[in-house]
Amino acid sequence: MSPKRFLSGINPSSSKGLHLGNYLGAVQQHVAFQAQGECYYFIADLHSLNSIFDPREVADNTFNTYLDFLALGLDPDKCVFYIESDIPAIPQIQTILNNCVTVSEMNRMHAYKDKLAKGADAEAINMGLFNYPVLMAADILAFRADAVPVGRDQQQHVEICREMAHTFNLRYGDVLKEPEVLIKADVAAVIGTDGERKMSKSLGNDITIFADEQTIRQQIFATVTDRNRVHPTDPGDPDKNVLFSYMKFLGYDETKRRDYEDRYRRGAVGDVEIKKEFFAHYLAYFADQRAKRAELAARPDDIRAMMQANAVKANAVADQTLADVRRAVGLD
Ligand code: ADP
Ligand code: TRP
Repeated sequence: MSPKRFLSGINPSSSKGLHLGNYLGAVQQHVAFQAQGECYYFIADLHSLNSIFDPREVADNTFNTYLDFLALGLDPDKCVFYIESDIPAIPQIQTILNNCVTVSEMNRMHAYKDKLAKGADAEAINMGLFNYPVLMAADILAFRADAVPVGRDQQQHVEICREMAHTFNLRYGDVLKEPEVLIKADVAAVIGTDGERKMSKSLGNDITIFADEQTIRQQIFATVTDRNRVHPTDPGDPDKNVLFSYMKFLGYDETKRRDYEDRYRRGAVGDVEIKKEFFAHYLAYFADQRAKRAELAARPDDIRAMMQANAVKANAVADQTLADVRRAVGLD
């Protein structure tokens, strides 16, 4: 049996760089899958066009996100790591897949409904955003992925991708692979520094990984902890202090953490001390990756060559799928 094929895309929609939620909810598992099968990862620059209209920003975000992932452990010797727009078969497959999904199914998709819920005018939502599940399906099906690791917010999109593949295969024969979705349960949604909502760059409740130390320090010190606690001597509830959960996720010494939690309950430690401790741990945890990121950023030509070499590998696979799809629908 051929090895399992994993595929996932990263929308380079932020100039702030990756945050702890991205790392725990996505990057860590992408890195781990490299040892378990054949992996295809890409920067979804075509997707970013539905919200970023500044060409400089599109180019910079794409490049910087690629560097972030390399620094965090994606290794082109162990996976194929490419840029979506370098794969011309993807938009061609998307055009064909448009015919495998109904308008009413598309109307149920989150990405677009979330925008509406946030007050966007329905008339102003562009077709790129509305249609992005079809582009995402093309991303996945072009590579005949077996499994798609994503955060819970993307689950619905992978499910509709399965349905498109199913519809295509019913019509034209067994050409496309219906992928399974993989969600990492225990960190399905990392809570942000507001202590309430999912960590997200757009909510400003994130802790970034590659920003300068001062920025990271500010983000950590802005964390909202147990609101009922006014003085360090007030008893607190560790479950209401999100820093303890970050410590758990990032392998902070368990005995020390339990001791802090115990003192927190008794009102024998201040929030500032815990924040300082976590800040130091955070920088130590990401020290190697931050150094590697700086080293990679100094070699842009090598990075561009790496992108090209990976696009060649990816195109070999996607072009084969496109040929099969074209033949199946009658375009040959
Ligand atoms: P953001 O919500 O900050 O805009 P993205 O939507 O770009 O982040 O997410 C990129 C990846 O990181 C996705 O796989 C997503 O599910 C994951 N992710 C983002 N935020 C979190 C979080 N708070 N907890 C777990 N995973 C997350
Ligand atoms: N839509 C995903 C996100 O916003 C990114 C993405 C694009 C993706 N194409 C994909 C993820 C294909 C998995 C598979 O995070």
